[in-house]
Amino acid sequence: MTAAAVRTAVVPAAGLGTRFLPATKAVPKEMLTVVDRPSIQWVVEEAVAAGIDDIVVVTSPHKKPLDDHFDRAVELELALEEEAKVDLLEKVQEVTGLARFRFTRQESPLGLGYAVSMAARQVGDEPFAVLLPDELLADGGQTLKQMIEVAESTGESVVALIETVGAEISNYGCAGYSSRDGDVVNIDRLIEKPAFEDAPSNLRITGRYVLTPEIFDKLARTEPGRGGEIQLTDAMAMQIDDRGMRGLVIDDIGFDTGQKTDWLRANVELSLRTDDSLAIVAMLKAVLESNGF
Ligand code: G1P
Repeated sequence: MTAAAVRTAVVPAAGLGTRFLPATKAVPKEMLTVVDRPSIQWVVEEAVAAGIDDIVVVTSPHKKPLDDHFDRAVELELALEEEAKVDLLEKVQEVTGLARFRFTRQESPLGLGYAVSMAARQVGDEPFAVLLPDELLADGGQTLKQMIEVAESTGESVVALIETVGAEISNYGCAGYSSRDGDVVNIDRLIEKPAFEDAPSNLRITGRYVLTPEIFDKLARTEPGRGGEIQLTDAMAMQIDDRGMRGLVIDDIGFDTGQKTDWLRANVELSLRTDDSLAIVAMLKAVLESNGF
């Protein structure tokens, strides 16, 4: 049986962003700039490139800039219009026009599973994508598109997986599998942040999921797990027996913009993909040379 089309993406963005304090004291971490736009816009653009046109952002109190970024900015637009700054006006309007945006507030920080459950009403009875905004693929939506294809042809949930080295697996959700066909595995076990010796494989869950809507019933029945939080991984583990689950093994996670050095790398690497790349290379060389490297 095949599943319905995936039209909606949920972006959980309620975290405190403690790794980036003090930068994130008053500014949501998802609003930190990567090259020329906030990191959350990169993630939304990735979803849109994969064919999604409905975005549900799960925010928390004090995260109003996220709503504002995707909302109309009437005064700014009028000012740009009066000054005939057409290019800038287009950039501002493009953000609002990317998709339909809906926002839902998560009042308590009870974990990723809880955050996703906040979007149940907006998503309804359809398969949907989840994109964790700390991970920035910048691959033009290719991975998500492939995941959606697997989900649509199998009717199962699909999660993107990547190989880890050694004890790294203990920082992530881990997927065990019974068989592998090319890049697609049949998942038979999911454990959130297992001890190295208990990990059923070296494949870790990344921040990209395509989930069937039964996950909401499972989330409602998920007890607090690792770290006392409602874990999405635990709810997904309950789905395996009911209807199976696939993993798409990918080679490169792109950037973890929740880590300071990787956020900087994202800025450097992605700026090299812009029209300013030659000027950026010259600037980087000059900075390195003048600092004795
Ligand atoms: C979450 C998930 C985990 C996944 C990770 C990917 O963990 O619970 O399964 O591997 O995202 O980034 P967190 O980073 O929120 O602890």
